[in-house]
Amino acid sequence: MFVSIHVAIAENGVIGREGGLPWRLSTDLKRFKADTLGKPIVMGRKTWDSFPRRPLPDRLNILVTRDAALRADGAEVAHSLEDALTLARIRGRCMAGVDEICVIGGAQIYAQALPLADRLHVTHVLAAIDGDAYFPVIDPQVWRAVSSLDVPAGEKDSHPTRHVVYERRTG
Ligand SMILES: NC(=O)c1ccc[n+]([C@@H]2O[C@H](COP(=O)([O-])OP(=O)(O)OC[C@H]3O[C@@H](n4cnc5c(N)ncnc54)[C@H](OP(=O)(O)O)[C@@H]3O)[C@@H](O)[C@H]2O)c1
Repeated sequence: MFVSIHVAIAENGVIGREGGLPWRLSTDLKRFKADTLGKPIVMGRKTWDSFPRRPLPDRLNILVTRDAALRADGAEVAHSLEDALTLARIRGRCMAGVDEICVIGGAQIYAQALPLADRLHVTHVLAAIDGDAYFPVIDPQVWRAVSSLDVPAGEKDSHPTRHVVYERRTG
C-alpha cells in the first residue's frame, strides 16, 4: 500500500481558515471524490469535525485523535498517524484492488504525513488567500511533478486551479 496526500493549496501555502476551507471548488471536490472513492482515508479530528456530513461515503474513514474516549459514527479511530496507517493497511487488504491510503488533512496531519508519503495529489489554487492553516513547502529536490492539468474556474468554483501529481524522487 502506498501513501498519498490529497490537498488543495493556495499560492501562499494556505489550506484552511477558521476550521474550514477558504474557497468554493466544486469541480475539485468531484475530482477528490473520484480519486478517493473505495479507499481508506486518514484525517485529523478537526478535519473530521469540519465535514458538514460525515463520514465521507463509500470510503473507509479513519480519524486521528489523542482523545482515548472519542467514538465517531462511521469512522475508525486511531491515536497516532502511524496507528492510522497500520489500521488502513490491515483493512485495505480486505478491500478489492486497493493499493493506496489517502491522507486528506488537515495541517497537523499533513505535516506529519509528508515525510512518509509516496505521492502528492495537489490542487494548486491559483490565488493567494487569507487563512490560518498551511501546507509545508513542497521541496523540488524531494518531489517531482509527473502530471499537471490546468482547470479553469467553473460556475461553482471561486478560483481556477492546477492539479499536479508529485512523486517522491528515488535515490
Ligand atoms: N485544503 C485542503 O485540502 C484541506 C484538507 C483538509 C483540511 N483542511 C483544513 O485544515 C484545517 C484543519 O487542520 P488542523 O491542523 O487544524 O487540524 P487536523 O490536522 O485536521 O486535526 C488536528 C487534530 O488531529 C489530532 N492529531 C494530530 N496529530 C496527532 C497525533 N500525532 N496523534 C494523535 N492525534 C493527533 C488531534 O486531535 P484531538 O484534538 O482530538 O486530540 C488534533 O487536534 C481546517 O481549516 C480544514 O478546513 C484543508
